[in-house]
Amino acid sequence: MNMNEEKSKKSIMDYETVELDDENDALVILDQTKLPGSAELISLHTGEEIWEAIYLLKVRGAPAIGVAAAFGIYLLAKKIQTDAYDVFYQEFCRQKEYLNSARPTAVNLSWALNRMERVCTADRELPVARIKEKLKEEAAALKEEDIRVCRAIGEYGLTLVKPGDGILTHCNAGQLATCRYGTATAPIYLGQERGYHFRVFADETRPLLQGARLTAYELHASGVDVTLICDNMSAAVMRNGWVNAVFVGCDRVAANGDTANKIGTSVVAAVAQRYHVPVYICAPTSTIDMNTPTGADIVIEQRPAHEVTDMWYEKPMAPAGVKVYNPAFDVTDHDLIAGIVTEYGIARAPYTESLREIFRNAGRGAEGR
Ligand code: MRU
Repeated sequence: MNMNEEKSKKSIMDYETVELDDENDALVILDQTKLPGSAELISLHTGEEIWEAIYLLKVRGAPAIGVAAAFGIYLLAKKIQTDAYDVFYQEFCRQKEYLNSARPTAVNLSWALNRMERVCTADRELPVARIKEKLKEEAAALKEEDIRVCRAIGEYGLTLVKPGDGILTHCNAGQLATCRYGTATAPIYLGQERGYHFRVFADETRPLLQGARLTAYELHASGVDVTLICDNMSAAVMRNGWVNAVFVGCDRVAANGDTANKIGTSVVAAVAQRYHVPVYICAPTSTIDMNTPTGADIVIEQRPAHEVTDMWYEKPMAPAGVKVYNPAFDVTDHDLIAGIVTEYGIARAPYTESLREIFRNAGRGAEGR
C-alpha cells in the first residue's frame, strides 16, 4: 500500500511491527526495507520466508527479531504433524536451529527461541496439541513483555535527561525495532508525552540507513523535534554543545558491559567521551548475555559488499571488484559507557557486578537466563 494513500488514515506509529495471524497461519510484519516510501504489511508462512525476512532486515532490531522468531517457531511447530512428543521435539529443534542461523549478533533471537524450546521441554508430558497452544501463549507473552520492558526502560532513561536536552541516537532502536516505544527512543517518547521538548539528532547510519529511513521517520511522524545528520557529523554537533546525552540500543551486552550495536556506535561513543557527553545503552535484560564474558567473544555479523557499494544508489558508487569490509555491528568498550539502562534499573560501572545485581533483583540469578 502506498504511504501517501494511507497517510490520511494511519500514522506509521499505528502499525504493528510484528503480529500473529493465527487463522491464516502467518507471521505478519511491517516490511522495513520499504520504509519510508511505503508501509507494506507482508505475511510469512514458511520457515524459509521467516528466515529470509530476518536476514534481509525486513524485520529487524534485536527485540523485534526475538518476537518474530517466537511467533515464527510457533507457526512452524503448529505444522508438525505428529502426536509423538519425541518426533515433535526433534523437528521443533531442527526448525529452531534454522531460524537461529538467520543473524548471529542479536542475542534476542536465540534468547526467544530458547524460551520457546523450554515450553516444549517443561511440559513434555502434555499432549502435543496442548504444547502447541502453550507455544502460542508464550510468543504472545513475549510480545506483551517487550512493550512493558520498553516502557520501563523509558522511565529509567528519562531520569538521565532534562527538558530541552539534545539527544543523539544511532541506527534505529525505535518502535520499529520493538513492539512499541523502542528502547533508545522510549525516553524520548515518554518525554514527548510529558512536554520535555527534546531536540534529537539521528545519525543516518550507513550502510543500511536505519537512522534516516526509520528513526528520523518514526520520530518525525510522532512530532518529535528530530534533525537528521550524516554519520560523520556527530563530532560537529557535540562540539557545538548541542548534545547532552547519547541513547543507543544494543544487540548483545557482554557480562563486562562491552556492547555490540550497529556499526558506528563505537565511533559515536569515542567522540562523546572527547566532548564529555554521557553514552547510555538502552538494554532489555533479554539483550544482556552473561554467558559472553567480553566484547571480544561476541560474533559480529558480516554483510554482503553490495550493501556498501550499490544499495540505495541508482548506480554503483564504488569501482567494480573493490574489496569491501561490511561488519553490521561494532563493540563499544565498557569504559566508554556511562550507564546501561534496563527495565530493572540503570547499571553503572563496574558492570561485571552491576549487571549481576540487575539479574539478582529480577529474581533470575546471575546467569540471567
Ligand atoms: O541490523 P539492525 O538494523 O537489526 O541493527 C539494529 C541495531 O543495531 C539496534 O540498535 C539494536 O538491535 C537495538 S533495537 C532496540
